[in-house]
Amino acid sequence: MESLQKKKRNSLISDSSIPSHIAIVMDGNGRWALKRNRPRSMGHKAGLNALRVVIERCGNLGVRELTVFAFSSENWNRPEQEVSRLMDLFMRALDRETRELDENNVRIRFIGDVGALSTALQKKIQRAQTQTANNTRMILNVAANYGGRWDIVQATKKLVEDCSRGLIRPGDINEEMLAKQICLNGSSDPDLLIRTGGEMRISNFLLWQSAYTELHFTPTLWPDFGPESLDEAIAAYQSRERRFGLTSEQVDKSNRIFRQSASGPSA
Ligand code: IPE
Ligand code: IPE
Ligand code: MG
Repeated sequence: MESLQKKKRNSLISDSSIPSHIAIVMDGNGRWALKRNRPRSMGHKAGLNALRVVIERCGNLGVRELTVFAFSSENWNRPEQEVSRLMDLFMRALDRETRELDENNVRIRFIGDVGALSTALQKKIQRAQTQTANNTRMILNVAANYGGRWDIVQATKKLVEDCSRGLIRPGDINEEMLAKQICLNGSSDPDLLIRTGGEMRISNFLLWQSAYTELHFTPTLWPDFGPESLDEAIAAYQSRERRFGLTSEQVDKSNRIFRQSASGPSA
C-alpha cells in the first residue's frame, strides 16, 4: 500500500480523475522487431511483456477496467505463419498469465468472435474466464477476433431475433437496446483510448463504445510502452475538458455543483 502511494506521488498525474476504463490499440510490435532485425513474432512476444507491465500499473492506479486490442478480425489476412505464431502466443500467455492475474484479483474476459478461434484456444479462454470470474480489483477485457463493425452487426442480429419472436417492435428500438447487446455491455464506455505505434486511426476497434472517448495517439511502439508512457497518456487525458456536446460554461457549472455536493452541504 505504501509503495502504491509512492508510485502515485512520483507520477505526473493527479489521483482525482483517474480514467475508470482505458482501452488500448497495442500497435507497433512488428516495427519494433524489424528495427532489431528480428522476426515479427519477437515483437509480439515483447508486446506481451509490455501488457503485463501496463496491467500492473493500471491496477496500482485504480483503473477499474482495461480493454486491449489483441487481434482484429482483419488480422487473419496476415501471413499464415504470423497468425499461427500469434495464436501460439495467446495459448502460452493464457497458460502462464492466468494464475498471476487471478492472484492479483484481476478478472479476464474476452470479447470478439471467439467461436472462430481454435477449440483448444477457446477452452483455455473459457477456463481463464471461469477461474477469474469473481475477481474484483480490475477487469481485463481482451479483444480477440474482434471488429467494431462485427460487434454492431452481432448486436443488430440479436435485436432482429427479438423482433421476430415478438419480444420487441422494430419501431421501439433505441440506442439503449442496442447498447445492451453490444460487447462490454454493463461496463462504462472507455474514458481514454490509447493507440501506440504512431498511426492515428481506430482500425475497427470499439466503434460504438468510443463515441465520447478521449483519444491519445503516441509514436511509441507498443513493446516500448511502459508505466511512464501510461502516466503520460493519463496526464494528457486529465488536461482535457470532456463536454459531451455541452458548452464549456455548462461543464464548469456542473463540475462546481458536483464538487459542492461531494463536499457536503455548505454552511
Ligand atoms: C500490433 O502490432 C499487434 C497485432 C496487430 C496483433 P503490429 O503487428 O500491427 O505491428 P506493426 O504495426 O506491424 O508494427
Ligand atoms: C490494430 O492494429 C489491431 C491490433 C492492434 C490488434 P493493425 O496493425 O492491425 O491496424 P492497421 O492495419 O494499421 O490499421
Ligand atoms: Mg500494426
